[in-house]
Amino acid sequence: MLTKRIFTLALMVLFAGSALMAQQFKYIGAEKCKMCHIKPATGDQYNSWLKGPHAGAMKTLAGDAAKKIAAEKGIADPTTDPACISCHSTVGSIDAKLNASATMNEGVGCESCHGPGSMYKGASIMKIQEQALTKGMILPTVEVCKTCHNDKSPTFKSFNYAEMTAKIAHPVPAK
Ligand code: HEC
Ligand code: HEC
Ligand code: HEC
Ligand code: HEC
Repeated sequence: MLTKRIFTLALMVLFAGSALMAQQFKYIGAEKCKMCHIKPATGDQYNSWLKGPHAGAMKTLAGDAAKKIAAEKGIADPTTDPACISCHSTVGSIDAKLNASATMNEGVGCESCHGPGSMYKGASIMKIQEQALTKGMILPTVEVCKTCHNDKSPTFKSFNYAEMTAKIAHPVPAK
């Protein structure tokens, strides 16, 4: 009897623990990464992203080309329709419950490729890669890109990982 109860209790703790873990990784938005990742000496990833294609992905949905594609599909407003914002924004691609402070305007933010930042954003964690990885950080592979760069995109042609990563490169300069 007692062992059974202890077993049940252990299971409950285990489940509560893993549910908590999953809940803890929340999306905080590119503005929160900016304060550390805007220094030229360490690569200014924020401005590379801002000038690159992903930060403007929501602006694209407000343009004429997007309106035309949407009209052909019977979509009234591409800037709010899940059929478009699910790839053109971080916020539109995630479970709303996991959003802490990311905004729709940021388009495809850092966390669409690097994972929700609420638990890894601390400087002491960020400096140690193994730690950041256990706190939700992702170093993206081609699979991450292909969640959006695929033939469900109305304008998709092809995706070459090497070429496409080179176009958005934002390295930390070697010391
Ligand atoms: C408090 C400062 C701070 C914040 C906030 C921060 N970072 Fe970092 N991050 C660092 C530091 C320091 C490094 C180590 C590299 C360096 O010196 O630039 C780093 C490294 C990284 C790396 C490379 C990790 C590796 O091991 O190669 C990624 C990716 C990254 N950050 C993404 C993000 C994202 C995305 C956010 C926002 C969700 C974010 N960071 C917020 C300080 C920060
Ligand atoms: C959450 C969805 C999403 C993910 C994940 C994503 N992208 Fe994109 N990407 C987009 C959207 C949407 C655009 C179009 C933006 C625009 O034109 O407004 C785009 C555009 C681009 C462009 C510019 C288009 C071109 O043909 O030159 C490059 C380069 C690119 N992405 C590279 C990548 C790479 C590399 C990865 C993975 C490391 C990646 N993307 C992950 C959604 C995504
Ligand atoms: C499966 C993900 C995905 C969906 C869904 C999606 N897009 Fe995109 N969109 C992308 C990606 C990735 C790019 C960049 C390169 C490409 O065309 O594959 C892009 C690029 C674009 C462009 C720029 C094309 C260019 O040649 O510069 C427009 C306009 C656009 N999308 C409109 C829309 C509209 C409107 C919708 C909704 C009906 C939509 N997209 C749905 C992923 C998506
Ligand atoms: C479209 C996907 C994508 C977006 C958006 C993105 N990154 Fe990255 N990031 C990558 C890829 C791919 C790498 C290279 C990973 C590798 O080398 O394994 C990378 C690498 C990094 C590195 C490590 C560079 C190094 O040399 O070690 C940092 C730091 C980083 N990103 C920060 C950011 C920050 C901050 C943002 C938002 C302002 C951001 N990234 C947005 C895909 C992305």
